[in-house]
Amino acid sequence: MGLILGIETSCDETAAAVYDSEKKVILSNEVFSQIKLHEKYGGVVPEIASRSHLEKIGFIVNRALSNININSIDSIDCVAVTNKPGLAGALLIGLGFAKGLAWANNKKLLGVDHMEAHVFSSFITGTNSNIRDSIRDDIEFPHISLVVSGGHTSIYLVKDFGVYDLIGHTLDDAAGEAFDKVSKLIGLGYPGGPKIESFACKAKFFDFFSYPRTKDLNKSLNFSFSGLKTAVLYDLVKRGAYDLNHGIIANNMTDELREQVASSLLVCMSDIFVAKLKLAIKKFPHVCGITFTGGVACNKFLREKLKNFCKDMGKDFVSPPAKFCGDNASMVAFVGGYKYNNSNFDTITLDIYD
Ligand code: KG4
Ligand code: ZN
Repeated sequence: MGLILGIETSCDETAAAVYDSEKKVILSNEVFSQIKLHEKYGGVVPEIASRSHLEKIGFIVNRALSNININSIDSIDCVAVTNKPGLAGALLIGLGFAKGLAWANNKKLLGVDHMEAHVFSSFITGTNSNIRDSIRDDIEFPHISLVVSGGHTSIYLVKDFGVYDLIGHTLDDAAGEAFDKVSKLIGLGYPGGPKIESFACKAKFFDFFSYPRTKDLNKSLNFSFSGLKTAVLYDLVKRGAYDLNHGIIANNMTDELREQVASSLLVCMSDIFVAKLKLAIKKFPHVCGITFTGGVACNKFLREKLKNFCKDMGKDFVSPPAKFCGDNASMVAFVGGYKYNNSNFDTITLDIYD
């Protein structure tokens, strides 16, 4: 039948989902976000993440199953689990749990690459009614996938299910990390992305400070965001809004300035994404469209910008519903589904990073 239980614990979300690979529907999707646990530290603390995964995983997997009246693991055909990349301790919790479950119940096991899961999350469509989330069949190959999260900023050429090439990546910080770092700098806290978005909205997405775009903007498909964060920092110091000596916010920091910084940062980021995707289309003109996934793809301004860009280029644009952009187990179960159909299983010796 192909009922896949997906498990995801690579960073700060403990997630479980059930996917019916025959009917192509997501039957259940459960996520526990650890944001509240990491908030006061301004970022994810790996040790706290692992402990929380350990506390929550049994409960979240149980809930994913009981949501659809599965009271026994017997009905599941395969356990698909993220085994790379991510925080080692966090991955080990999900993988250990999945292996135990599969071994004890004589179920198939398969490891899923978290980035592959993000790439193919674009195929999951959402509903806000009680109709189930399903898999769309209107995304053509080859296409380009831009995956932007707190840990990654990557561009892939996607040729088929499970067949994709990395064609660009960040050389330093991820874009989500840049949002998080600037947010911390101006005192908005963690996670920065949603806060930057709401402050930028108040300033009407105007480019006040023209922060520098990457040097080789139109030449390379790689990204670099560490310079952008430094540029924001020094601009704030110049404006008397940040005290570099003491590493604290200074007198001239106002909410108006925060809004202007957030707005300028978001516009800068959108310009960088558009330029890189333009270059990607120039290099691979035969692609049918672009997909935009990962936590940063929750950003409505960026989605709109990329959608308009694709329209101008005559390319399709797809970005999944927000609940499938950030880390979730439906995307893991979906990848598990096509691997299951190809009998692409792993053995019980599967390790993290294999
Ligand atoms: O994919 P994700 O949930 O976890 C990782 O694999 O990293 O992405 C988290 C990242 C964080 O950096 C967060 O600030 C960013 O996604 N993010 C956003 C928005 N919502 C979350 N960035 C920009 N705008 C948003 N609305
Ligand atoms: Zn992720």
